[in-house]
Amino acid sequence: MTNPTPVCDYEGSDYRARFWDNQGRDYEDQAERVALRRLMPPHGDTLLDVGAGFGRLADEYHGYERVVLFDYSRSLLREAQEHLSGDSRFVFVAGNWYDMPFVDGLFDTLVQVRTLHHAADAPALFRELARVARPQAAYVLEFASKHNLKAMLRYGLRRQAWSPFDPEPVEFVDLNFDFHPAWIRDKLAASGFAPGRMLTTSHFRFAPLKRLVPTGWLVSLDSAIQRTGAWWQLTPSVFVRSTLTTAHTSAPVGAFFACPTCRTPLGEPEQGVLVCVNPACGRRWCVENGLYDFKEPL
Ligand SMILES: C[S@@+](CC[C@H](N)C(=O)[O-])C[C@H]1O[C@@H](n2cnc3c(N)ncnc32)[C@H](O)[C@@H]1O
Ligand SMILES: [Zn+2]
Repeated sequence: MTNPTPVCDYEGSDYRARFWDNQGRDYEDQAERVALRRLMPPHGDTLLDVGAGFGRLADEYHGYERVVLFDYSRSLLREAQEHLSGDSRFVFVAGNWYDMPFVDGLFDTLVQVRTLHHAADAPALFRELARVARPQAAYVLEFASKHNLKAMLRYGLRRQAWSPFDPEPVEFVDLNFDFHPAWIRDKLAASGFAPGRMLTTSHFRFAPLKRLVPTGWLVSLDSAIQRTGAWWQLTPSVFVRSTLTTAHTSAPVGAFFACPTCRTPLGEPEQGVLVCVNPACGRRWCVENGLYDFKEPL
């Protein structure tokens, strides 16, 4: 791909087994779903899950006609296919979020959960999302917040060098960033999204508490106080719902994929290949076993 921004590569990763399956994160999973249901329009035409991984949240999208699971990792998308390919509403697309393989103005809802922390250039990603979103599209973003109580405590006790109050993102591990909520709102606005409602989640992300208190109780408590995110954000996880305000048109009916290199709209695949008809480009993209692969041209 042409984009020089580094990407956190999950190809071949055991993300699901290592992070979710019996890993004591049922509380986080359920609290995130509560927030998502509160912020995401329940029905719509075409939804984009940005960095969908193995499709953990796919069962939240039942009100949509078409759901694109987009991720850089082919292997995670293949896992998603294992449990979702029976449902023809799902489209599985591999690619880089800095160069999305879609025509302008396509999606009426965009969802991004637990992935922004891998964005070395979040403003570039927001601009790309604004391009593929329809006018007035809803963008529900969850991000890892640096402005959280634990970070404040550690900073106060001098056990952490970076300040949770500094608006700039902090890269605490290679290609893992935490963001300040005010910085996120600024960058969203600069990209054409009007940031609106904010919810805080994972108020009780503390292993001993999660062991002691039944998950259902923690989720109910979390759910009851998520709305305080409108006034202050002190949790490690924050949701914000934005609306696209830039004036551009919706994609023409039938238009869907575009060459990620030159943006020329692509037609139907022939013998497993999508060909860019722009003579100056001519790149060819693979479609194999239901996976549209835009990571590298053939
Ligand atoms: C921590 S996982 C989260 C997966 C899913 N959203 C969830 O909540 O279960 C982060 C995902 O972001 C994807 N990702 C990271 N950088 C990307 C990029 N530049 N373009 C597309 N996907 C990317 C990874 O492949 C990975 O699947
Ligand atoms: Zn092209």
